[in-house]
Amino acid sequence: NNYIIIMAGGVGSRFWPMSTEEKPKQFLDVLGIGKSLLQQTVARFQTIAPAENILIVTSAKYKKLVAEQCPELLESNILLEPCMRNTAPCIAYAAYKIKALNADANIVVAPSDHLITNEAEFIRIIENGLDFTANNDALLTLGIQPHRPETGYGYIQANSVNSDQSSVISKNPNIGSEGEAYETMPNAEASFSPSEPVPTIREEIKRGVVVESPLKVAAFKEKPNLETAKEYLTAGNYFWNSGIFLWSFKSILSAFERFVPEVAAIFQKGEEFYNTDKEQAFIDEMFPTCTNISIDYAVMEKANNIFVQPADFGWSDLGTWGSLWEKRERNEAGNTVVGEKVHLFDADNCIINMPKDKKVVIQGLQDYIVVEDNEVLLICKKEEEQRIKEFRASIINE
Ligand code: GDD
Ligand code: MG
Repeated sequence: NNYIIIMAGGVGSRFWPMSTEEKPKQFLDVLGIGKSLLQQTVARFQTIAPAENILIVTSAKYKKLVAEQCPELLESNILLEPCMRNTAPCIAYAAYKIKALNADANIVVAPSDHLITNEAEFIRIIENGLDFTANNDALLTLGIQPHRPETGYGYIQANSVNSDQSSVISKNPNIGSEGEAYETMPNAEASFSPSEPVPTIREEIKRGVVVESPLKVAAFKEKPNLETAKEYLTAGNYFWNSGIFLWSFKSILSAFERFVPEVAAIFQKGEEFYNTDKEQAFIDEMFPTCTNISIDYAVMEKANNIFVQPADFGWSDLGTWGSLWEKRERNEAGNTVVGEKVHLFDADNCIINMPKDKKVVIQGLQDYIVVEDNEVLLICKKEEEQRIKEFRASIINE
């Protein structure tokens, strides 16, 4: 009953100019390992669900790219959007289509642009999570310990109470600690009473406390500003939203019906067309009428049956140049360079991506991104990289 929805319709604008509208980053081999991010994502899920249960939702213009890169998938499992309406309509379409296939479906929704280094742990966490969502009316996200005040992620505030539910926390036997008892979900009816956050979850996890069961979420905050992100980091009981969601189709459909009823109504109307030759015509007509909104704002910030499973499987969202700089091999000066004729003098902590034969000399740059691709040269401070979207817009509108 496991189904996977892979979202692959983004344009990866913060990875510009390597990622372009014609070929966004999920289709690129950004790590240089011979597989695109999308191909890595599909491979990772093949132990959790058979290929016929893996759906990719993308823009109609990437149909060929997806089919070429993922020949193991059924053609009918490549869902094509006629225009971009962000992630809520994308997930709603796939969820209603899955409903028509399997009335007991349990779903994982995943982005297509992440790096996960510990696959065994990833699979273990997903399987446990699916077990939880099969038995509870819960919207589960995987939460990552933050280590910098990143403004490009959503934050999940875990709730905690001083109750006697400590059995749900298993402790590393090597570390003696009483720990806290965090509120978790014994059953779907458990009432949720917000209480003072206990700012020790992060310390506990660092000390080796393994949180084996999902924690109840007090609040979900999509993309805070820098000041707020710093507060979250010091508060200690916030996780990064990995953007990987688990839920039964029943739980997510009732959330759509409640919080974005206009979107739910559109895809409900399509029920008679899914998995028939009329599906695409229906979607082409109706999809453009959907509200443009992400799942984070549409559902996760509003629902109160949100849970977080703390997870540590070497996750990183390769969302920006800075995140790629963190993952790539760097020299003593902290530079990571692609390009065979790049000469650096007094440069530190830079990420440089140049065409193979371009002769380049760089002097005196610290913490910069220097990228030439697709006939664009970008030179930008690493700390300003969230503005690359805006820089890209200034050029493509020219
Ligand atoms: N099919 C489709 N259609 N896919 C889309 C669309 C769309 O309109 N928009 C985005 N996607 C895909 C992207 O390709 C990516 O794989 C995924 O959905 C998430 O979209 P992003 O645009 O990368 O979101 P984000 O990184 O800014 O934020 C989300 O992910 C973060 C973690 O990576 C949020 O969920 C944050 O809360 C989260 O921290
Ligand atoms: Mg992303």
